Amino acid sequence: MKETDILAPLTIELQKVCSLGGNMSIVVVPEKYADRALGYTRDVDTALKYQEYLIIGLFGMEADEAATLFLSIPKGIAVYPQDGKDIKTLFFGAMERLRVKGTSPWAKRLWETINESNAMERQPDPENRFISASFYQFLSTLVSHPEELSRIMADMNDTEQHWVRDYLPYGLGSTLNNAGGCEGLDVSVLFEEWQYREKTAHKLETGKKTLRKFRNIEHLFTLPSISREIIDVARDPLLAASKMARIIERDPVLTSRLLKVVNSAFYGFHRQIDSVEHAIVILGNDEVVNLAFSIAIYKILETISPCHAQRLWEHSLIVAHLSQWLGPLLGYKSKDKIYTVGLLHDFGKIVFLQRGHYISDIDTPSSLQDLAQEEKDSGLSHAEMGAYIAERWNLPEGIVDALVSHHLPGKAKDKALAVTIHVADIIAHNGKIDMSQLNNAAVRFLSQRKGPPISQELVCRTYEKVTERVKKVSDIEDGA
Ligand SMILES: [Fe+2]
Ligand SMILES: [Fe+2]
Repeated sequence: MKETDILAPLTIELQKVCSLGGNMSIVVVPEKYADRALGYTRDVDTALKYQEYLIIGLFGMEADEAATLFLSIPKGIAVYPQDGKDIKTLFFGAMERLRVKGTSPWAKRLWETINESNAMERQPDPENRFISASFYQFLSTLVSHPEELSRIMADMNDTEQHWVRDYLPYGLGSTLNNAGGCEGLDVSVLFEEWQYREKTAHKLETGKKTLRKFRNIEHLFTLPSISREIIDVARDPLLAASKMARIIERDPVLTSRLLKVVNSAFYGFHRQIDSVEHAIVILGNDEVVNLAFSIAIYKILETISPCHAQRLWEHSLIVAHLSQWLGPLLGYKSKDKIYTVGLLHDFGKIVFLQRGHYISDIDTPSSLQDLAQEEKDSGLSHAEMGAYIAERWNLPEGIVDALVSHHLPGKAKDKALAVTIHVADIIAHNGKIDMSQLNNAAVRFLSQRKGPPISQELVCRTYEKVTERVKKVSDIEDGA
């Protein structure tokens, strides 16, 4: 039998709609959901089975209404007259939409509204990438409604569950496992009451304002030109020490600060090191490049109160050094970005401090609730703000991506890099890996990694060593 014959009952219904005027939705549902879908249909609707699908014609219904009716069921919807004027076109349109969505339930579509790539596609304006990268207020609401969240997730397959969990903190696991499907729970009510749409709109508006204001004070945050050159040359592993030394020595303040650090107890050399080239020969290119970059970038911290600057500086250095140690253990092989990302990961906080915006406590790791609070105040969190600055500095995309996702590492293009920074941040705050403060994606990444286990004892020892050394360097810079 041809499709047109099978679809004949629907064609008759559509003819009625055509003559009366109005809408009709054609909904295609996979067979395994047929019984549930039929339970939601009304007497006036027409349903028929075709291969492994159920096709339903809904009288006088728009797509939104149809989507709400079959809230928790995977489906494709096409609407007369917008999507087509005959049943065959509408049927194939609905099939197409179902295939695009695969077997994803509606909730995944909702999650996708906060997905970065989606946001980028919808909004070609590059600034929107940073404003729409996350929606922490929504995430923290879901976390505070574990029952609803688990019901949404109950209908998802493993891949989709991972996809959602990657947004969440570790430790929700057991609560999320034992719930039934969405039946009996109209999750849309939760979002309606929470005012999802209004809050997103407000976030976007506030975020735009914050970035606009930032551009007015951007001159305070220019990347010292020497840092730009240092980043560029650092990518060349075969660069001669003399060339690198010549770049650094063009800045006398930087050179003297660098030599002061190199000759400090931090490195413990007996002989005096009196030139940058000498330092490079002894310490190696990477170490000197990182040191020079840190010292050059310190200038930006002078825009905020010395007390905040000192705490943030020490934290940034500790995360940078810990990341360098942790990266190779987590499978991040390349050395060129890790120190820079570690150093800059919380630089968005400087802008917020400078502008008097809310930021979470510098001395504790940012929870989802903290990030939501920042976002409420500024339209974006310090992670997105920092990534925006890096983008304005034309830093490599890998750095920008890792900065924006350092609290949601599962969303990063380079997961090993983002997880490294995320875990190093937690170690820097706690002196150990505190699982309860990690993001779920990071825990999954750690559990899947190969190689010898990283003992808590080793983490604590490394933390102490790094902290002690960083304190020496930051004291010197403070007094320099
Ligand atoms: Fe952060
Ligand atoms: Fe941090």
